[in-house]
Amino acid sequence: MRLVLLGAPGSGKGTQAARLKSYLEVPHISTGDLLRAEVAAGSPLGLQAKEVMARGDLVSDEILLGMLKDRFSRDDTRDGFILDGYPRNLAQAAALGELLTSLGQQFDAAVQLDVDNELLIERLAGRAQAEGRADDNPDSVRKRLKVYDDQTAPVIEFYRQQDQLTVVDGVGTLDEVFDRILAAIKVSRTPG
Ligand code: AP5
Ligand code: MG
Repeated sequence: MRLVLLGAPGSGKGTQAARLKSYLEVPHISTGDLLRAEVAAGSPLGLQAKEVMARGDLVSDEILLGMLKDRFSRDDTRDGFILDGYPRNLAQAAALGELLTSLGQQFDAAVQLDVDNELLIERLAGRAQAEGRADDNPDSVRKRLKVYDDQTAPVIEFYRQQDQLTVVDGVGTLDEVFDRILAAIKVSRTPG
């Protein structure tokens, strides 16, 4: 299964991708996690990305595509993946299409987790207290939501027009949302 998981900051992409990874036995590729690992390692790329991420802006398309190509060059992506956090603008959507074509692949579905802004802000405020992620402060959250509306929402429309989009209600318990995703991608839920 090859999935692109879309949704605003706090919509539950990372949470659900972790579950889908174990259930479908395919790697979870989170561009946010890859970038945070670079920041933590203090690599040149991480140093470039750190401030941009902390204020809630997008890191350059060039850096992202380089990271993505590198990740997709690994064998474990051959039989499937869950992509979380990419694409975030139309240029990235085009780049992903080209990358997958060059690998002789196509994704099976783009799933958007739909959650209203009020609840997103509430969830991210909760995570700010629990985890202290650098971009979960109110100013950066506001910026991330605006960047999502301005740059990522057009990607959703693009996939909708291509008939590749499935919208899933992201409000509910973790199990409820997980079951909705499986239903949306037509994977049956085995008991237990
Ligand atoms: P990224 O790491 O992708 O962050 P994001 O999109 O802002 O999303 P989050 O990770 O905050 O939310 P999520 O949807 O994963 O939700 P989660 O499961 O954690 O990107 C970070 C930054 O990196 C970007 O701003 C940018 O700078 C850079 N970047 C990354 N990709 C890039 C790209 N392609 N191009 C350019 N720059 C890029 O859940 C959130 C919280 O809610 C958690 O506390 C969770 O426990 C809780 N929660 C989840 N589900 C539920 C539920 N059903 N009920 C109650 N609580 C829930
Ligand atoms: Mg995430």
